[in-house]
Amino acid sequence: MKAPVITIDGPSGVGKGTISQYLADALGWHYLDSGALYRILGYAANRAKVDLEDADALTELMDSLRINFSGGAQLDGESIDENIRTEQAGERASRVAQHPPIRSAMLELQRGFLKSPGLVADGRDMGTTVFPQTPYKFYLTATAEERAKRRYKQLKEKGQSGNIGALFRDIQQRDDRDMNRADSPLRPADDASIIDTSSLSISEVLEKVIEQLPFKANVSLD
Ligand code: C5P
Repeated sequence: MKAPVITIDGPSGVGKGTISQYLADALGWHYLDSGALYRILGYAANRAKVDLEDADALTELMDSLRINFSGGAQLDGESIDENIRTEQAGERASRVAQHPPIRSAMLELQRGFLKSPGLVADGRDMGTTVFPQTPYKFYLTATAEERAKRRYKQLKEKGQSGNIGALFRDIQQRDDRDMNRADSPLRPADDASIIDTSSLSISEVLEKVIEQLPFKANVSLD
């Protein structure tokens, strides 16, 4: 491998994004938010009125997209960070992510993020499919109830409204689709370190991850 990779996988709302970003900052490494790639494709498909079940049309659309992450997600030069962070965008992402041709087209794109000095890759299949050869694999879990509560709190903090029952159902639906699809379903790699985050704070999870790694990290939680 060109440079080391740390994979952080797990279900929706478990806090992978936050942990992965802190970890990448602490190590001074690059960060891959693979979910954002599926979200961008779902967003672009909706905008171009492409059917989310039409794998051929989605693959063609994907080939034409110019995706950039400098200062947030950008599509064809337009900032779409806010647009892809909604619950609906997550639902669309999980629908486009079911198609095997899309997943294989994403492989090369995702591996292209691996650059020196290293990469923290966050997603569902980073350890099982995209970077299976790395020895640094983590899988974060938390109960669906706890993840719905966290999401509700996040929405409140952003001044948005949310319904905890609806969030819980969305999470269960997304878990079900992600765990039961035929291609690269969500599951821990056999050699992943599994961390149940249900009763842990962000800094406690980060500590558990860092203590298992041979790299020097400068953690600052702000
Ligand atoms: O992580 P995030 O919630 O942004 O991901 C959105 C959706 O994209 C997930 O529910 C999942 O269906 C899909 N996804 C995936 N493989 C990844 C990352 C995300 O299938 N590596």
